[in-house]
Amino acid sequence: LFFFKHKPASEILSGLVGSEMCIRDRLISESEIQSKINEIGDQINEDYDGQDLLIIGILKGAFITISDLAKRLKVDVSFDFMSVSSYEGTETSGQVKIEKDLDIDISGKNILIVEDIFDTGLTLSYLKKILDSRNPKSLEFMCMFIKDTDKTTSLDIKYHGFKIGPEFVVGYGLDFEGKYRELPYLAVLS
Ligand code: IMP
Ligand code: MG
Repeated sequence: LFFFKHKPASEILSGLVGSEMCIRDRLISESEIQSKINEIGDQINEDYDGQDLLIIGILKGAFITISDLAKRLKVDVSFDFMSVSSYEGTETSGQVKIEKDLDIDISGKNILIVEDIFDTGLTLSYLKKILDSRNPKSLEFMCMFIKDTDKTTSLDIKYHGFKIGPEFVVGYGLDFEGKYRELPYLAVLS
């Protein structure tokens, strides 16, 4: 068990209460995550065999998933990154802002968007709308973790790592107030 003392939860993360935060326990181990990444990588190699693929990582959370996945890929692949954020402090506004757009023109390309976690689905359904309008040849999604929460929208996720409960998690790219992204496993914060 790990204990890291931390600051009070921000109001944005309404699920978190209490005067200090700590890592409660490991939900998914490093080796479970690595074998899942290998499995997904192999599947992508099979699905995109003989085709080109542009992987779009959603910053910052997806950077660890992408770098692990990249090493497994044998298809003709390129990478680009986007950064998005929900509008200031609200989960309910339904608005997502592009902080950093793509450098590459995606028209006519096979696109795979890689995201750390699928929670309400707001971020990815917004991205789908924007990127569809840029006329890619195909547009698919990979999410490392899928949260068991009410989805505001339904979206077809082609590749997913793990389905998890509704609690707030950190590690493997996911943060709480910018911290814990570097953990090689997924942990519950409480
Ligand atoms: P969605 O738009 O509600 O699907 O939210 C997705 C985004 O919320 C993710 O990209 C994360 O940045 C963030 N998020 C949702 N749940 C968690 C969590 O448990 N830990 C850390 N970040 C989370
Ligand atoms: Mg994110």
